[in-house]
Amino acid sequence: MDIYAVFGAPIKHSKSPRIHGLFAEQTKQALEYTAQLVPADVFAEAVKAFFDAGGKGLNCTVPLKELAWQFADTLTERARLSKAVNTLVLQKDGTVLGDNTDGIGLVTDLMVNNRLAIKQKKLLILGAGGASRGIILPLLEQAPVEIVIANRTVAKAETLAQEFQHKGNIKASSYADLAGQSFDLILNATSASLTGDLPPLAEGILAKQGSCYDLAYANEPTAFVRWSAEQGAIKNLDGIGMLIEQAAEAFYLWRNVRPETQSIIALLESER
Ligand code: ATR
Repeated sequence: MDIYAVFGAPIKHSKSPRIHGLFAEQTKQALEYTAQLVPADVFAEAVKAFFDAGGKGLNCTVPLKELAWQFADTLTERARLSKAVNTLVLQKDGTVLGDNTDGIGLVTDLMVNNRLAIKQKKLLILGAGGASRGIILPLLEQAPVEIVIANRTVAKAETLAQEFQHKGNIKASSYADLAGQSFDLILNATSASLTGDLPPLAEGILAKQGSCYDLAYANEPTAFVRWSAEQGAIKNLDGIGMLIEQAAEAFYLWRNVRPETQSIIALLESER
């Protein structure tokens, strides 16, 4: 049986073993997928040991995505630019390919599952950390009018905007300077949800008919999801669909089989 795993710290609450187990059952693929607690300081040894023992592919989550990026022998373009890897794939020649399926997972959830257009739309991304970096290229590839990255520490948003400026119309902003603007889609990629906080957002920043997406997910609505509801967002989504879609993309890289995701999203939604 082929062996896969997700490494991270903490990892106990990871939904990935469940999701990949459901994919395997649905597509009749014989594989095992486990979650392993791997702190950053033993990451490289743990990955080597995993592949030496016959492992075929790995997911890496917080705080290991940058280390996985460094570890990979080769990188896809989207992984190279995001400077983070969430999926490692053992190649036939024994080398390890690093990819990042987070951004495409988000785009699939937005466009396919929720029928939200990105083309010609004004997008606002909140936060300029690793989560933002991973989604910028796949979003720019959908040709929005512009992407504005707002961050508390504006210099980090400026660095990100510079790194991606050759890929589309992207600029940086402070939260204060957003006043008077409005956006069709606001994506929360800050870690504020994890502490129940909310970035300081001006009134009217969500366009009429606009939608919101929190990359985080929780059983209870996050502070951002609650704020979005107050703003009258047409669609008000959290990251459960993105989680399942990034997993589906990783599964495809490993198995060359694409699982059907709608029923699995519905199942996990029903269990909240
Ligand atoms: P991740 O990998 O999850 O993106 P990160 O790289 O630590 O984590 O980045 C966290 C992001 O959330 C940053 O953009 C951070 O803003 P700063 O760069 O100014 O620190 C943002 N963030 C965290 N808590 C926040 C809060 N309470 N309000 C606004 N932004 C917050």
